[in-house]
Amino acid sequence: MRLFAPLAAALSAALLLVAPSVEAKPRSAAAAVRALEAGAVASPDQYGALAAQEVLKAGGNAVDAAVATGFALAVTYPEAGNLGGGGFMTVYMDGKPYFLDYRETAPAAARADMYLGPDGELVEGLSLYGGLAAGVPGTVRGLAMAHQRFGKLPWGQVLAPAIRYARDGFVVDAHLAGVLADEPPPEFAKTNFRTYFAAHKAGTLFKQPELAATLERIALVGDRAFYEGKTADLIVAQMARGPVKGLITKADLSTYKAAWRTPLVAKWRGYDVITAPPPSSGGIALMQLLLMKQNLAPMFQGVALNDPQYVHLLAEIEKRVYADRAEYLGDPDFVKVPVSNLIDPAYVARRAKEVDPAKPSATKAVQPGLEKHETTHYSIVDQWGNAVSNTYTLNGSFGSGVVVEGAGFILNNEMDDFSAKPGAPNMFGVVGGAANAIAPGKRPLSSMTPTILTKDGRVAMVIGTPGGSRIFAWVFQVLANVYDHGLSLKAAQAAPRFHHQLLPQNVIFYERSGPPSADLKAALEARGYTWTESFSGDVEAIQVLGRTPVPEPDPRARGVGLVVK
Ligand code: GLY
Repeated sequence: MRLFAPLAAALSAALLLVAPSVEAKPRSAAAAVRALEAGAVASPDQYGALAAQEVLKAGGNAVDAAVATGFALAVTYPEAGNLGGGGFMTVYMDGKPYFLDYRETAPAAARADMYLGPDGELVEGLSLYGGLAAGVPGTVRGLAMAHQRFGKLPWGQVLAPAIRYARDGFVVDAHLAGVLADEPPPEFAKTNFRTYFAAHKAGTLFKQPELAATLERIALVGDRAFYEGKTADLIVAQMARGPVKGLITKADLSTYKAAWRTPLVAKWRGYDVITAPPPSSGGIALMQLLLMKQNLAPMFQGVALNDPQYVHLLAEIEKRVYADRAEYLGDPDFVKVPVSNLIDPAYVARRAKEVDPAKPSATKAVQPGLEKHETTHYSIVDQWGNAVSNTYTLNGSFGSGVVVEGAGFILNNEMDDFSAKPGAPNMFGVVGGAANAIAPGKRPLSSMTPTILTKDGRVAMVIGTPGGSRIFAWVFQVLANVYDHGLSLKAAQAAPRFHHQLLPQNVIFYERSGPPSADLKAALEARGYTWTESFSGDVEAIQVLGRTPVPEPDPRARGVGLVVK
């Protein structure tokens, strides 16, 4: 708490936010029904988990803890935790569902053809590396809006762990050291990335003084300190540095808005699934996957998890889901998305009937894009039975590679999530059309799927993952493993996940962490599939059993789960 004491003194004078008293007893019978015996967090690293623990122990609720974890990961999980990116937060608070969209937007100067050369073809890398790849960041406004609406603790207190990690440093673990050594793409050599993010060895202390100063400004003034004033000046100055200049202006920053949207809430197996509406494709796709599989229960009868027929049937379902995604989905502020039609049980049943149990349905061949990601997810519950499921992102690992000099944070490359050219695959190999074309102020289509399941008003599961186009398919697989196959959450997390997304044609992706067995590989190849290695997911989930939260980090990465009494 070394830094927090002086900061608290300044904040008590400068900040208007006062912590309401923390209630010891539930306020109503309904609140008593929702209450848990403890809070819990499942975070992609230990520092994010410790930040949540600190805030929950201080009497903060799930939103306070989620804001603290979001800022902490912006320091300790630089490949995806961020100030310079955006995301989505699904909240279950006092028995009601909410959804906060703090996705990046295209700058006002963005144009549909901005990544095409004179020949009309995509200029490779332009939407991925350097300043032109960055959308207007949403994270700081989003976390501030969540805190303003639901937070109980002072703003400065929830930022304190992040400021400590940045100012005093944090110890780099072996996993992050590996990521820093191996993941940054060669194209980052043209950015200032290595000036800020050297290949630190495991066990060394990593301090980020510029980032600490940025966080301190935000702690003192609020989110305005990011979108106006010194931080905004630094972002705009960074846009002017080459070799690839960016488009974000002071007006883009000062007019950036996050949005409370109506969450997608749908029934499945007696649960209310609370999940992401557009501009994410995730919630619609997750519901299509869950409902189509349920529809095909007779076809799945006697088919063991992840045996060849199982993987084939999932691929057949996924084909239809990704076909819809490419055609219909985009930013609902710009295009009409037929949400209810897409998850209408009769429509899903009709689509399920198209599934061929014997062989892959024919698809058009399109080559995949890059296969790197970085988004990150954390899940939190508090003792009152509130829950936050938060997925946020820089898009690619370490985003655009551009660090805002003087402010110390990385800018996203979220512009690549737009369809830069109809039919051309993005970095995740998925395609889109007019619904997801670039336009000023528009949000790129996402796959992020922060999800909460409730039953009879009580939280049952909080779940999400990074993974670009794989996100909702992996959330779906873990949910199916738990609820359809009766696995513990731990076993459901550990099970290998296989993935198909319509394009590339008949390719099954396996996670680097879990290649298929020789038998499975051969059996699917005999049906006409080919296999491709993919990055791994990082599903951070909490299941509530009775009143007991069971946090389960994904064994594939450096996640940590903590129960907070
Ligand atoms: N950038 C990954 C996603 O939003 O789906």
